[in-house]
Amino acid sequence: RKPISLPRLNELRARGEKITMLTAYDATFAAVADAAGVECILVGDSLGMVCQGLTSTVGVTLDTMRYHVESVARGIRRVQGTAWIIGDLPFGSYQESKEQALRSATVLMQAGAHMVKLEGGGWTTDVVHFLVERGIPVCAHLGLTPQTVHALGGYRVQGRGESATQLRQEAIRLQDAGATMVVLEMVPEPLSTALTQELPTCHTIGIGAGNGTAGQVLVMHDMLGVNLGKNPKFVHNFMEGHASVLDAMSAYVAAVKNGTFPDNAKHAWV
Ligand code: KIV
Ligand code: NA
Repeated sequence: RKPISLPRLNELRARGEKITMLTAYDATFAAVADAAGVECILVGDSLGMVCQGLTSTVGVTLDTMRYHVESVARGIRRVQGTAWIIGDLPFGSYQESKEQALRSATVLMQAGAHMVKLEGGGWTTDVVHFLVERGIPVCAHLGLTPQTVHALGGYRVQGRGESATQLRQEAIRLQDAGATMVVLEMVPEPLSTALTQELPTCHTIGIGAGNGTAGQVLVMHDMLGVNLGKNPKFVHNFMEGHASVLDAMSAYVAAVKNGTFPDNAKHAWV
């Protein structure tokens, strides 16, 4: 297998093959996800909740993200894996200025990330442009942006009614600024499907956004059925009917590729 790169992801998209992404936070699970054929591994700041026991991602620091990105990158290297590694820029590490965002992104890139992810639209457009111009691939994140959960008023569906137009414009501006991927979290399926058509060079990766996106992502712990709380409705427990983590992750990859996950009737909003 060839290492995953941006041209390789473009190829997958061009032939209508779904892009698969899972989170991982340590060397071993990252290597298993890679072996299962997951193309993109997101070292998400969701690690604050699933590894650190926090109640939101707001408390995750850049130093903690660096530690986990390093661990994942070492795991992939150890098994000569091919996964594309995305490092989440945590809360407070890119809001201050473009320069601060570059310094923080540098930390994650030097830890082994191939791309960084940041949340939000509007003001982030200039930040994305600044990073992309300097050779750092960027994944955006719109819809439910967990770092701003306190401003949003809770973990709820975004982009309904009036705000759909705003989300759509933000996504187009992020693509124009050079973002090559965008996570769409908890947005209505018709909106994420329409947006996918409007964003040819920025691959939409859905989570709770229906099956019309270019790819899908889940938090690893959720799809393995281990969780400290209640699973959101967009999650499927892939351990059901599978005897190993490798089999469960392989089933996730197969279900995303053949379009059976997510099921719009069960896992999405309209
Ligand atoms: O941190 C994370 O795991 C994420 C995904 C849910 C997209 O941002
Ligand atoms: Na995140």
